[in-house]
Amino acid sequence: MFVVTGASSGIGRAVTVALAERDQSVLAVARDSTRLLELPTKYPLVTAIAADLLTAEGVRQVVDACAPHSSIAGIVHAAGTLIEPQAFGSIDTVVLLDEMRVHVMAPIELNQQLQALLSRIVFLDSYSSNDLRVGWAAYSIVKAAAQMAARSAAEELKHVQVIRAFPGAVRTPLVDAVLNSPADSPTRRTFRALQAKGKLYPPDEIGGWIAWLLLDTSDEELTARPTWQYGETF
Ligand SMILES: NC(=O)c1ccc[n+]([C@@H]2O[C@H](COP(=O)([O-])OP(=O)(O)OC[C@H]3O[C@@H](n4cnc5c(N)ncnc54)[C@H](OP(=O)(O)O)[C@@H]3O)[C@@H](O)[C@H]2O)c1
Repeated sequence: MFVVTGASSGIGRAVTVALAERDQSVLAVARDSTRLLELPTKYPLVTAIAADLLTAEGVRQVVDACAPHSSIAGIVHAAGTLIEPQAFGSIDTVVLLDEMRVHVMAPIELNQQLQALLSRIVFLDSYSSNDLRVGWAAYSIVKAAAQMAARSAAEELKHVQVIRAFPGAVRTPLVDAVLNSPADSPTRRTFRALQAKGKLYPPDEIGGWIAWLLLDTSDEELTARPTWQYGETF
């Protein structure tokens, strides 16, 4: 059994579908129950659970749903939102704290509470965690914190394989929101340039790649590499 958060959209949804199409059971987690429930209707191996990972109750719901299982083959942390581009001088710190909760704290808590059952953990890493781009600080701050959580987990959770996956730019609602934003920004320019070069990947390609990392790579291969980048390896 796999757990995928952020399963109602984008990369999380694509991973859920890719795993189910390879005959794997998936516990699919997100808030929007309407979009989530499309998954078990189409893929009987998927169980959907509507939970808000902003809240302690949401994290508990996921842990409780895992309790009947004696092992979890992997968890994919794909819940998250794109933070509206904002100047550093006017970052909304209330929103920043919520994003920290979903991208950083909820994965840490799920890893802690499920660690005895888990074999593999996938973190969706981002070049934004290192790149400095005007207007993009809030997202970068959150992704940098998430990256350090992933690196710490890799170092300290010795019995778990931690996979830091860089999917590149993926054509999800998160990226569409930037592409279609009326205001010019360095990030919109970057995404439009990638789009022109055909380097905005469809989510199903990334879903297939993450399923490959989870199902077709050995522990030795995973141990040998601290990060995985789409395009280099698949
Ligand atoms: N797209 C890219 O190019 C890219 C590149 C590198 C890394 N990433 C990372 O990949 C992850 C997924 O991104 P994406 O592009 O697939 O985004 P997306 O299409 O917007 O999907 C985000 C998912 O997270 C869920 N979610 C948001 N807030 C939640 C909450 N409080 N509780 C539970 N679920 C919540 C959303 O569902 P509900 O609204 O139904 O809850 C949705 O299913 C993010 O961590 C992102 O930083 C993306």
